Amino acid sequence: MVRESSPCRSQKCRCLLLGLTVILIFGAVAVFAAVIFAGRRDPPAVLLQWKGRGSTDNLKEIMLGRCFTYTEMVNPELRKDCLKIWETFKNAFISKNPCNITEQDYQPLMELAAHPILCNKTLLWSKTNELAHKYTKVQGNFLTLEDTLLGYMADGLTWCGNPSSSEMNYQSCPHWRECANNPSSVYWKMASRAFAEAACGVVHVMLNGSISQPFGNSSIFGSVEVHHLNPKKVHLMKIWVMHNIGGQPSDSCSGSSIKELKSIIEGRNIAFSCEDDHRAVQLIQCVGNPEEPACRVCRT
Ligand SMILES: *[C@@H]1O[C@H](CO)[C@@H](O)[C@H](O)[C@H]1NC(C)=O
Ligand SMILES: *[C@@H]1O[C@H](CO)[C@@H](O)[C@H](O)[C@H]1NC(C)=O
Ligand SMILES: *[C@@H]1O[C@H](CO)[C@@H](O)[C@H](O)[C@H]1NC(C)=O
Ligand SMILES: *[C@@H]1O[C@H](CO)[C@@H](O)[C@H](O)[C@H]1NC(C)=O
Repeated sequence: MVRESSPCRSQKCRCLLLGLTVILIFGAVAVFAAVIFAGRRDPPAVLLQWKGRGSTDNLKEIMLGRCFTYTEMVNPELRKDCLKIWETFKNAFISKNPCNITEQDYQPLMELAAHPILCNKTLLWSKTNELAHKYTKVQGNFLTLEDTLLGYMADGLTWCGNPSSSEMNYQSCPHWRECANNPSSVYWKMASRAFAEAACGVVHVMLNGSISQPFGNSSIFGSVEVHHLNPKKVHLMKIWVMHNIGGQPSDSCSGSSIKELKSIIEGRNIAFSCEDDHRAVQLIQCVGNPEEPACRVCRT
């Protein structure tokens, strides 16, 4: 015979059930309190909101990896402590207002990461990012800022901190139009200045002749690098104005923009020369455009 299924008729059983219920309620209350308490102890940081992209995900891993790649493989003679470089980099901006970064913040990093650059090897560029780096990769004898440790580590990355937290702000960072003294702008300004100051002998510059002003005085090249070449060390600036293959040239060595640059450079007692579409660089452009008239072996 099947017994009626209503549970717990006995006193003992009721007690057990009551006990279990009490334990369950206490447990739930304890977990709830723990969550609230933990939340109180470590309140979520209030992140300032900006218009620019937030810090690059995995910034630390990327920068450390690049530093090791650079010091082990790209430039193996260089003796640098990458962990110390990362810590010094982070300390420049972490827990600070990202609109209030100063040159002093980055000074220790600049000193730590500096390395010598041989004479005649400096290649500056403006608005020719892709072509300039393709060229130095193939040519092997020139260095852009992005081929130095500081430029190599930070190329294409974004970073900023937040005053109320010791973490990166991965949500947003100031756009350069929001404030000039943001972590990236100050970094690139200082790294560019140090790169220009280190240049000696002949300095080459690759500019873009397919935009209306190949030389712009508000670019990093026009506002920082031009003014920090040392005339005691740099005796000649060679400009290459490159045009998009098959496109309509917009300006050239004889344009007013380059003339303005010439007068600034000569005013600083550095000799100046300019060449349109330097052939060795044009050959790099021709890899992707072999049929264009400018790329034929026998040009008329
Ligand atoms: C910016 O930094 C300077 C010096 O570190 C400090 O005196 C000033 O109060 C800071 N301003 C803001 C808005 O954080
Ligand atoms: C740099 O180039 C100049 C001119 O081409 C040359 O006279 C000089 O010897 C070169 N210096 C080095 C270190 O190669
Ligand atoms: C010149 O600038 C334009 C616009 O930024 C770009 O599309 C082009 O690739 C640049 N040309 C060269 C030769 O770098
Ligand atoms: C940049 O050039 C423009 C004219 O081309 C001039 O009005 C301006 O003052 C210059 N700015 C600087 C910082 O030299």
